Amino acid sequence: MRTGAIYRGSEMKIIDLRRDTITLPSIKMCEDAFKAVLGDSVYDEDPRQCELEKRAATITAKEKGIFVPSGTMGNLIALLTHTQKGEEIIVEENAHIRTSETGGAACVGGLMIKTVAGKDGAPDPAGVERAIRDDNIHYPGTSLICLETTHYRYGGIVPPLSKFGDISRISKRRGVPVHLDGARLFNASVYLGVQPGEIAGFADSVMISLSKGLGAPVGSVLCGSGEFIEKAKRYRKMLGGGMRQTGWLCAAGLEALSDDNISRLKEDHQNARLLAEGLASLPGIEIDLNMVHTNFVKTFFEDPGRDAQAFAGLLSSKGIRATAAGRNELRFVTSKEVSRDDILSTIEVIKGIYP
Ligand SMILES: Cc1ncc(COP(=O)(O)O)c(C=O)c1O
Repeated sequence: MRTGAIYRGSEMKIIDLRRDTITLPSIKMCEDAFKAVLGDSVYDEDPRQCELEKRAATITAKEKGIFVPSGTMGNLIALLTHTQKGEEIIVEENAHIRTSETGGAACVGGLMIKTVAGKDGAPDPAGVERAIRDDNIHYPGTSLICLETTHYRYGGIVPPLSKFGDISRISKRRGVPVHLDGARLFNASVYLGVQPGEIAGFADSVMISLSKGLGAPVGSVLCGSGEFIEKAKRYRKMLGGGMRQTGWLCAAGLEALSDDNISRLKEDHQNARLLAEGLASLPGIEIDLNMVHTNFVKTFFEDPGRDAQAFAGLLSSKGIRATAAGRNELRFVTSKEVSRDDILSTIEVIKGIYP
């Protein structure tokens, strides 16, 4: 049996709202993986990997893609491919690349990071323009602008495409390419009702994750121009991302990128909204419903004495898992492992123990 209950090692019904990386592969993914013909992907001989890379490139409207083990590696390869040591990259101040990728940009890439604040999850375009360095012997060269959608730290919000458009125009005028951390690009495209390629079109390269919400057990794809991907392949090998017989993983990845699987994400968004609306009516709980765009619900306790960690522990004892994302903040993330009924039960349980 391969159920969530086994995965979580518990007999109690668990409603796991901590992350969308808890999603399990579907039966179809497992069957496709089992049937996959395998080959050595380092030599482009694994048929499923070649197919997955093509599908990812098509769906993001780029020329080529490369399969990588993780989003972190995909982003790092993008940084290495676009830049040279000692250069500077521009990122929104709370971007995942800066806050949560173990300093890889500095440590492996030898890069300086210039942060630009921004509302809505996108760096302020005027700030980006100002942050691009003039050609001066004293300054590091600016070699990349990074964007992110959906924005992880701001609770899965989708930055407006108008801002991406402004930044893309600045990038072209100033000759600085753009990389998009699209770990949850499909959540953004479902929210906006546009094709993923329309969003990725504002960037020269894009990383998409297969293992967040889409249900594949592992993997991301980095997409860009043919020339970019040929160069990126060398960095993938250097970082140990040449994985040989990847067909099992890529077969699951192909199913992750099926149209039906992508459009299913709207159920996660509906469940997040249901949860947010159910909890927002409770006294002392603050949820900005305007910021619930996709599958995250950021929940704040107004009482500064209320400890989110302790509350998460209490919830866990009732079979509901959430993340204490700050002293007063609980984060819930919906995924295909959580049904509408699970959300209704969660609301009832919280009503029962709160305040
Ligand atoms: C926005 C964003 N980018 C990149 C990553 C890194 O992906 P991975 O966990 O596959 O390394 C994550 C992971 O949560 C993420 O949320």
